[in-house]
Amino acid sequence: MKKYFITGGCGFIGSNFIRYIFNHDDSAVIINLDKLTYAGNLKNLAEFNNSERYFFYQGDICDSKIVKEIFKKHKPDYLINFAAETHVDRSLGEPDDFIQTDIFGAFNLLETAREFGLERFIQISTDEVYGSIEKGSFSETDALMPRNPYSASKAGADRLAYSYFATYDLPVIITRASNNYGPYQFPEKLIPLFVTNAIEDKKLPVYGDGKNVRDWLYVDDHCEAIQYIIDSGKVGEIYNIGGGNELTNIQITDLILKETNKPESLKQFIRDRLGHDRRYSLNCEKLTNIGWRPKHDFHKAMKFTIDWYKQNGDWWKPLKSGEYLKYYKKHYKEL
Ligand SMILES: NC(=O)c1ccc[n+]([C@@H]2O[C@H](COP(=O)([O-])OP(=O)(O)OC[C@H]3O[C@@H](n4cnc5c(N)ncnc54)[C@H](O)[C@@H]3O)[C@@H](O)[C@H]2O)c1
Repeated sequence: MKKYFITGGCGFIGSNFIRYIFNHDDSAVIINLDKLTYAGNLKNLAEFNNSERYFFYQGDICDSKIVKEIFKKHKPDYLINFAAETHVDRSLGEPDDFIQTDIFGAFNLLETAREFGLERFIQISTDEVYGSIEKGSFSETDALMPRNPYSASKAGADRLAYSYFATYDLPVIITRASNNYGPYQFPEKLIPLFVTNAIEDKKLPVYGDGKNVRDWLYVDDHCEAIQYIIDSGKVGEIYNIGGGNELTNIQITDLILKETNKPESLKQFIRDRLGHDRRYSLNCEKLTNIGWRPKHDFHKAMKFTIDWYKQNGDWWKPLKSGEYLKYYKKHYKEL
């Protein structure tokens, strides 16, 4: 029986990971610690509420008391740190929470893991820590050049996690994945924002000239890769996880308009994001060399994702009102 301590399990990737583990392991126990910020949603995991193998704690990864209590009570084998402030746009205006959660929170988890011991500490980092690349792709040994407060705070946690391996022999592995897409992603991120706006006949706000390139990874592939790395990765190592689907934001926008049968006129170019990274690209040979590659076809998985948002208005409509709407109107004031 494996015990997984998941932080940030009520967010997009964390909730998909919990579902992935329960679907693939009949005896796994999951302990989920989530602060339930605007991005955390209990509805994402409602189907597990009555499971005897699922424990939820509302709390902050920066709070050493609750983290210690969880270690004492559950003695987890693995800790997978998904908890973070994650939206680049928000980090430009209000970076404080990013530094607190993404760096100090990771530090607190590492310290507690060091005190109690565990099999693996997986720090979920991101391709954004490398910064932008015009040509070629980043390998795990390339320099980190983060260019906004989100990616800089993630880079801080990434290196701090490594330092706990190098200094204290904590069995840390760091993963750096590219942009994820799939069900349950908060509708402020590009794909769910554009899909839900298209469904509602609202404008799709494309930054700058729309030629920024991102690599897209289906969330289930990401979850499978994390599990693969837990089982087959080497401690102290970093693994890039990419989808192999580099597209410009315009290509993504056009695909969404086509799949939702909406007109070109919904596409609206707006002032570019400050410090907008032009292109992210990962070299994933290290992971393919140990035997893992993504399984999902991009167009099929995108169609599935778009259909999921079409069918789950009950999930995303309440999220696009209230405080979120105030933030959105302020942020995209040109619209
Ligand atoms: N989404 C992507 O494309 C992507 C790509 C690569 C890496 N990542 C990384 O994966 C992780 C998960 O990303 P996501 O897109 O699911 O994020 P998300 O914003 O959807 O979810 C974050 C979750 O963390 C929780 N949280 C925030 N602060 C917390 C705190 N102090 N204590 C406890 N819980 C807290 C939130 O309530 C939420 O449930 C992040 O570390 C992110 O940097 C994301």
